[in-house]
Amino acid sequence: MITVLCIGDVIGTVGMRYLHRHLPALKKLKKIDAVIVNGENSADTNGITPDSANYLLNCGVDLITTGNHSFQRKESYPIYESDNLPVIRPANYPAKAPGIGSRVIDLGRTRIRVINMMGTVGMNPVLDCPFVTSDQLLEGIDEKIIIMDMHAEATAEKRALACYLDGRISAMFGTHTHVQTADEQILPGGTGFITDVGMTGPVNSVIGVSIEAAIEKLKTKVPVRLSYADGQCMLNAVVFVIDERSGKTVEVERINISN
Ligand SMILES: [Fe+2]
Ligand SMILES: [Fe+2]
Repeated sequence: MITVLCIGDVIGTVGMRYLHRHLPALKKLKKIDAVIVNGENSADTNGITPDSANYLLNCGVDLITTGNHSFQRKESYPIYESDNLPVIRPANYPAKAPGIGSRVIDLGRTRIRVINMMGTVGMNPVLDCPFVTSDQLLEGIDEKIIIMDMHAEATAEKRALACYLDGRISAMFGTHTHVQTADEQILPGGTGFITDVGMTGPVNSVIGVSIEAAIEKLKTKVPVRLSYADGQCMLNAVVFVIDERSGKTVEVERINISN
């Protein structure tokens, strides 16, 4: 069995410090073989930078996925052009965009293929069809264990893609809303699934952002410089236990730490 921990969007330095504090014990407790984390909000004013990517990797993360904030920061571009940093962006970006949308975590005894995908419903930018891109990508993949981070706003789009790929991928975890859903399950074909895994960041916030700034923006409709909140954090994640011979998920557990 291979046990994979998938962690929701890490929010700035406050979220990264919380991850650093809790990840070693969590890995030990759940006997984790590989860690995937969404890092699209890891830099302090959003996006991802080489420093925040390296911080996450030094915490014990094996691979970083991103989303609609992949290219938020100018400093992020070298990350995707580097072969050394295991950071991917959604696979349904146009082919000319920097970086790649899928990468392998090589554990020696087995290989885990990780795919990053982005939704098109209520998302900006609007990318290629995730269904068509998934079909095309899966044709050329021979790894038995395949995990997808589906970064999307609409719950129905995430679930529909999971049902479409049921039995063809080992597991899908949704990201982007920063709100954890309580629907972790194994679909009939053996694909582990959760609509949204949540975030790793401040509890007293509006999906990570300072409450005052979020209210100001919604009340006035005027652009407001959003900053991340501080204080008590939570770590939202999901654990998939996968049979490496069949590539199917046999156990799924939702994680929510807030101490
Ligand atoms: Fe996010
Ligand atoms: Fe996002």
